[in-house]
Amino acid sequence: MNKLKKLHILNTLHIYKSLGLKYIDDIQDIDQNNNSIKSLPNNLNDLENIVQSCYLCQLSKTRKNVVFGEGDTNADIMFIGEGPGANEDMTGKPFVGRAGELLTKIIENVLSIKREQVYIANIVKCRPPNNRVPTSQEVESCIPYLLKQINLIKPKIIITLGATAYNNLTNDKTPISKIRGEVLPFGDAKLIPTFHPSFLLRNPSAKKYVFADMKKVKKINDESLRA
Ligand code: URA
Repeated sequence: MNKLKKLHILNTLHIYKSLGLKYIDDIQDIDQNNNSIKSLPNNLNDLENIVQSCYLCQLSKTRKNVVFGEGDTNADIMFIGEGPGANEDMTGKPFVGRAGELLTKIIENVLSIKREQVYIANIVKCRPPNNRVPTSQEVESCIPYLLKQINLIKPKIIITLGATAYNNLTNDKTPISKIRGEVLPFGDAKLIPTFHPSFLLRNPSAKKYVFADMKKVKKINDESLRA
């Protein structure tokens, strides 16, 4: 889509907004009826095309690239982060900066699998300016895409990285320090919250907790492969 067309769409959306239409509330309402996910395409390529031209929230104005997610689309394990940072915004790929290097090490050294064998996505697909936490409005407009990704990939294990990913995916506001390492039901999958790699970069002494959580993940994954 060219810039002129984008501007035209944004302008139209602003006019609708000034007329009183509430896009986000509508999405939330539809979501509660479990329809917005149903109305999204049933394959990842078509879903990605829709996300690539999404202008539902203000992050679309400042992003360089949409970061849809990447990895094995049949993965048993899916990691979910908060949202793209500067490196991810530049490349269009999730977790490629320092936090991403650490995540890759965790996957390879603790889970003993290749990064390409898991799927990695985020709560929001566009970078929040200055890496701020995404607003609830931004999360509400973006999360149907993530739910559809989960629905199509059907991972057996979902690992949420950090508070934003856990709190927004589950709607449970329990602090991450209390809930990390628990094995929780999430649809047909098991959800295991753990600390975000960026937190580990700032607090290396917390690596032992993530190590313990990933050992748990490995055990569950190995058992399910044997079953
Ligand atoms: N932090 C995130 O939460 N996601 C990324 O993709 C990169 C950094």
